[in-house]
Amino acid sequence: MTRAIAASIDSLRIGFIGAGRLGQALAWSLAAQGLKVVAAASQRRTSAQALAAPIPGCRVDAAQTLVDDCDLVFLTTPDAALEPSVAALRWRAGVAVVHCSGVTEVAALASAAAAGAQVGGFHPMQTFGDPAVAARSLPGCTITIEAGEPLDATLVALAERLQCRTNRLPPGMRARYHAAAGYTSQFINVLFADAERLWRSWGASEAQAVDALLPLARGTLAAIEAAGIARAMPGPVSRGDLASIEKHLQALVPFGDEACARYRILCRATVPLAQERGAIDAQIARRFEDLLAQPSVADRDPSGR
Ligand SMILES: NC(=O)c1ccc[n+]([C@@H]2O[C@H](COP(=O)([O-])OP(=O)(O)OC[C@H]3O[C@@H](n4cnc5c(N)ncnc54)[C@H](OP(=O)(O)O)[C@@H]3O)[C@@H](O)[C@H]2O)c1
Repeated sequence: MTRAIAASIDSLRIGFIGAGRLGQALAWSLAAQGLKVVAAASQRRTSAQALAAPIPGCRVDAAQTLVDDCDLVFLTTPDAALEPSVAALRWRAGVAVVHCSGVTEVAALASAAAAGAQVGGFHPMQTFGDPAVAARSLPGCTITIEAGEPLDATLVALAERLQCRTNRLPPGMRARYHAAAGYTSQFINVLFADAERLWRSWGASEAQAVDALLPLARGTLAAIEAAGIARAMPGPVSRGDLASIEKHLQALVPFGDEACARYRILCRATVPLAQERGAIDAQIARRFEDLLAQPSVADRDPSGR
């Protein structure tokens, strides 16, 4: 058993290799909880300095020095660099190395495991854009942990210290799990971009659009939290209002086929949700589905050209 990892998390010497958005936010969050983040390494020294600067006693090191000095190493490089980074370093029994990817298997760290290191996954289901903003949004989020003992218990204790929930995945589910996360992270950006394009058409700025749309999005999220996905769904389909959807479809024509097609797909997906909450019956649902079906080429161009 690795003594250091089995010990209290307060005595662990923690290092970060890869000082980007997630690395900075996680390092700062662990340090703010009194944990010993003692070293940072990155491709560029300036990135490691940016991670280390706000943490008292945190040094900028070469990656190998960091591995030799730490009990727990967070490898927070981009996914493609995980395997080569681990393979380029010397590992030992008594050290643990953890990646924070949602989609890459823990097996990417196999070369460290072969040298006796403990390996694991510690994936926070959160968006890490601006590191300071991300650090504030970490409490309350879910961290998916994958490791053998005693590292597993250490990672659970770290997640709890960060005031996060923990999640486990059955083997082979990482890609599906990571795809699921995309719906409520980057796809929200796509929805905002579509809405913002409409706002711009009457001369509004992106800032004005975001100011107006964010409270609406927050209200939708609060309603989902309170009532559930289907029961909380707002909008004309949830009221059986076909006429409003017809007006939307006409209004979107100047924005092109792709914008219209995406609106139809998204709006169609609201129909079964409205049915699930009992807001519309099968007959109304059918009328929505007919209205929202993708038009054929002939429908779009009556001349047939
Ligand atoms: N961003 C998110 O929302 C998010 C959410 C959950 C999980 N993750 C996971 O977190 C990990 C990091 O993602 P990120 O978004 O923080 O990426 P990122 O912002 O691009 O940061 C990656 C950092 O690693 C450094 N780096 C690249 N190659 C390296 C190497 N060979 N050795 C040492 N450092 C290297 C980069 O270089 P420089 O030193 O040149 O800056 C950069 O600072 C990924 O596994 C990702 O899947 C990200």
